[in-house]
Amino acid sequence: MSGQIIEFLRNSDDFISGEEISRLLGITRAGVWKRVKSLRQKGYLIEASPSKGYRLLYSPDILTENEIRAAVKGNIIGREVIFFESTTSTNDRAMEFGQKGYPEGVLVIADTQEKGKGRLGRTWFSPSGVNLYFSVLLRPTFSPKDAALLTLMAAVATVSGIKKNAGLDASIKWPNDILIRDKKVGGILTEMKSDMDRINFVVLGIGINVNLRLGSLHKNIRSIATSLKQETRKSINRTELLGQVLRELEYWYKALLRDRKEPLLDEWRAMSSTLGNKVSVRTKDRVISGIAEDIAKDGELIVRLPSGLIEKVYAGEVTIPKNQNAKFKTQN
Ligand code: BTN
Repeated sequence: MSGQIIEFLRNSDDFISGEEISRLLGITRAGVWKRVKSLRQKGYLIEASPSKGYRLLYSPDILTENEIRAAVKGNIIGREVIFFESTTSTNDRAMEFGQKGYPEGVLVIADTQEKGKGRLGRTWFSPSGVNLYFSVLLRPTFSPKDAALLTLMAAVATVSGIKKNAGLDASIKWPNDILIRDKKVGGILTEMKSDMDRINFVVLGIGINVNLRLGSLHKNIRSIATSLKQETRKSINRTELLGQVLRELEYWYKALLRDRKEPLLDEWRAMSSTLGNKVSVRTKDRVISGIAEDIAKDGELIVRLPSGLIEKVYAGEVTIPKNQNAKFKTQN
């Protein structure tokens, strides 16, 4: 009910009387006042005037299901929103919903994750009140060999969303690290359930460090991570950023469903901080060094070895040595 009071106040440019709120919600005026006091305790600044009523002056960055619903306007992505104040991992929950037959487009989002998962079995630091952690359930009709395009799509949507919402130039380090000034600001974890020739469902999990203070990070990763607030020196509204990233996802997903793969790959190439550089890629069993030449349609990184031979790398961890003495732009 407090969420509805915030909605009324937010939709009104001026004061809204206690009497009107009490009528709309079917509660007493004392009940309205009680909820206003509890909203103030959560950080909302609400002016109260005995003659005019209530007016919202400031909203703290609190994720609420109502606000998320209002910000997510796509007709596929986010057509259903499942919000948790806290959950294990939004990816795990979305996988469960996928198994239970939930429809494509379901958005699972949490303010904090107890067991946030990163790539390669790592954990994803997921404190409450500062970042975005969300997963989208998809049921694409294309073949499993094209599934990697969905991860590329998530990276492109995240970078575009950050650009449009926070005005920052982020880039993609293969396969799907989101960087700003070479520091990690976000990551993507894709999980899939499929048969040999058919995707059952895919979960795209996205984590973005939004208002995280770097001081709260473990000292081992403080020097390699960043957040949007750290870069802009301003607090970013998480719900608005989420809405923007989801709009970008919707755009690119519809393009993929119409078989428009090349524009997506071109966008990925333009956002990549990997292509054109000397790289070392640590795979499960070896390290491959060479020039990162291109990305293949199946998401593999194409590396030209010093011998001139080409290697395609499916999974691994890229390092880009500083002070490159042989850097060139790929011909795409
Ligand atoms: C990476 O290692 O770079 C991938 C990080 C992915 C983190 C996100 S947060 C939302 C979703 N739920 C998870 O448990 N992981 C992903």
